[in-house]
Amino acid sequence: MKSNIEIQRIEKSKIDSVDFNNLPFGSVYSDHMLECDFINGEWQTPVIKPYAPISLDPAAKIFHYGQSIFEGMKAYKDADENTMLFRPLENWKRLNKSAERLVIPHIPEDIFMEGLKKLLEVDNNWIPTNEGSSLYIRPFMFASGIGFHASPADSYKFIICTAPSGAYFAGKVKVLIEEKYARAANGGVGFAKAGGNYAAQFYPTQLAIEKGYNQVIWTDDNSHEYIEEAGAMNIFIRINDTLITSPTSDRILNGITRKSVIQIAEDMNIDVEVRKITVSEVIAAAQSGSLKEMFGAGTAAVISPIATFGYHGTDYDLPELENPFAEILKKAITDIQTNKAEDPYGWRVVLD
Ligand code: COI
Repeated sequence: MKSNIEIQRIEKSKIDSVDFNNLPFGSVYSDHMLECDFINGEWQTPVIKPYAPISLDPAAKIFHYGQSIFEGMKAYKDADENTMLFRPLENWKRLNKSAERLVIPHIPEDIFMEGLKKLLEVDNNWIPTNEGSSLYIRPFMFASGIGFHASPADSYKFIICTAPSGAYFAGKVKVLIEEKYARAANGGVGFAKAGGNYAAQFYPTQLAIEKGYNQVIWTDDNSHEYIEEAGAMNIFIRINDTLITSPTSDRILNGITRKSVIQIAEDMNIDVEVRKITVSEVIAAAQSGSLKEMFGAGTAAVISPIATFGYHGTDYDLPELENPFAEILKKAITDIQTNKAEDPYGWRVVLD
């Protein structure tokens, strides 16, 4: 880091205006944010400053060529007021993988980690303690450098904002298996957390919402026969007692919740198969009664069970189970995240 983090504190906190018992997801923002500029080939001193709009030149390349990437993380507080993160270095590494693909400079570990820790110290009272709530953290980087020439910018901004948040989805979701559109292609940017990946999902998702669904299940761009992701999450499908999830690839995000769920499930002696799965296999399983569960897994929603899926004009309901894997796995992972259980993996990072 060029030099120590500079801190400019807010004059009056807005925390008293926030109802912590009724938190939406990601739409109420904490008092401060961290901002760091990449100028003249180097990262400048990071600044923690009052959360506020930023000023950008209209020719900034983010607006024209979409050079923009982000991460999603959460901070938690336990009963003893310890502040905790979950596998934060995985987010840092993935941000830099995304950066490489979008020709954005790497963010050094110390700016990411020390900046995040300092921000959480400054806004520590914004970390919710209610069951099911957490401080959602959004680190992102984008091209602030200008020019209409279609080439990478020469300057960038790294920002971290945080939002005390409740659940991402209110309950079980109804999803539509996509037969026409795709979120990613081989050789593309599907594995990266590029803003444009999410923008490209909005139109097909809007069409699905108009038909009465909440989300789209993404299939491969070529045949639309392979199930790949669930909305903005990875997907897990339980057939009998086996949990199946697609392998990561150019098209599939290497989700931190995904890999944590795989590890926890395996250690619970749940049979996990990381393999391609076709729509036909899922339909056949639904028809024979062997399809037990489908759920999305991601940082924001943790685990989001699917109640119904639609395909080719037919809706298929998932059974109501007594002790679904989705619930067991969600409890196991959130107990580790919130310090209610031992963490045999060393995933939980308690801040000083
Ligand atoms: C997350 O789960 O944190 C994500 O990045 C998905 C986001 C679109 C809410």
